[in-house]
Amino acid sequence: MAEKDLYEQLVAAADDIYGGARPGTRALHAKGAWCEGTFTATPEAAALSSAFHFGGHPVEALVRFSNAQGDPEADDAERESRGLAVKLRGPGGEEADILATITPAFVARTPEDFLELLDARRPDPETGQPDFERLGAYLGAHPEAQTAVQGTVGLPPIASFATAVFYSPHTFHLVGSEGERTAVRLRWIPDAGEERLADDEAKARGRDYLYDDLDRRLDGDGTIGFELRFQLAADGDPLDDPTALWPDEREFVSAGRLEIGSRIDDPERDDHIDVFDPLRLPDGVEPSDDPILHARRQAYSVSAYRRWGRERGPVPE
Ligand code: HEM
Repeated sequence: MAEKDLYEQLVAAADDIYGGARPGTRALHAKGAWCEGTFTATPEAAALSSAFHFGGHPVEALVRFSNAQGDPEADDAERESRGLAVKLRGPGGEEADILATITPAFVARTPEDFLELLDARRPDPETGQPDFERLGAYLGAHPEAQTAVQGTVGLPPIASFATAVFYSPHTFHLVGSEGERTAVRLRWIPDAGEERLADDEAKARGRDYLYDDLDRRLDGDGTIGFELRFQLAADGDPLDDPTALWPDEREFVSAGRLEIGSRIDDPERDDHIDVFDPLRLPDGVEPSDDPILHARRQAYSVSAYRRWGRERGPVPE
């Protein structure tokens, strides 16, 4: 068999941490719920980017909330990250994906570092435990991982998907109609405010409490809202390092509103899958050179083909 490339190795390492590859599921963010909604951008966003979804007309949003780990039966009380993936669709078939998690920074600067970290977390077949010595050595040699570590295992679980701020740790360049460029990071701010639970309170709410909560909030005419905010870079802010936060004093611009109205059935069936890809960017938004951002497309593609039950091929459209 051909040697695994970097992206296959990343997916294989994630599989090993969460109990082995499961056909039909994502290697990470395996447990999730799909929703539908609408995104409407502000005039301030339109002034910074000519992208279709920042034009100010309401656009359709396909949304998936998730637990970050690879076990589809994960307990919602676990201290780990959570995801919010949004696919915006324009009337002419344009698409823009925005992926975010509750962790403000990513844990590694490069995919090679991330693989080393995942490798150290692989459970020993004898003990079922990670190699704590190797893990400790990795974390000692990589202080840049600490912001993400503290933002996940260092915090108790969120009370609801509707009460979490979701961040993208990558920098994107917005391009305006005259070609002017602005370096930004994105975050979703919940209308309902931020709330976390004490660990035992989360445990007491049951394994799927985040999903029961979604159903409750979206029952009848209920909606869940988020404001999209751009954080603008200042001179000298790191543009290609997802482990390094920008100072809170940076300027923020309110970029639009996401209004989620209903939970829907998993739209992936038979021959159809919906892949969220952080490089699915329309004209008017360009990626930075962040190596993690660029590695994600291929890693997601490996995982997507697997859940599709097909041999790996070109990145899914
Ligand atoms: C090299 C670094 C990373 C690797 C290897 C990786 C790997 C993966 C994989 C394999 C999936 C499943 C994809 C699929 O089957 O469609 C996934 C999903 C996801 N990842 Fe990452 N990831 C990385 C970094 C990040 C970062 C920095 C974020 C922060 C925004 C993030 C947020 C998400 C989200 C929200 C999903 C769920 C998408 C969905 O609901 O379909 N990931 N990741």
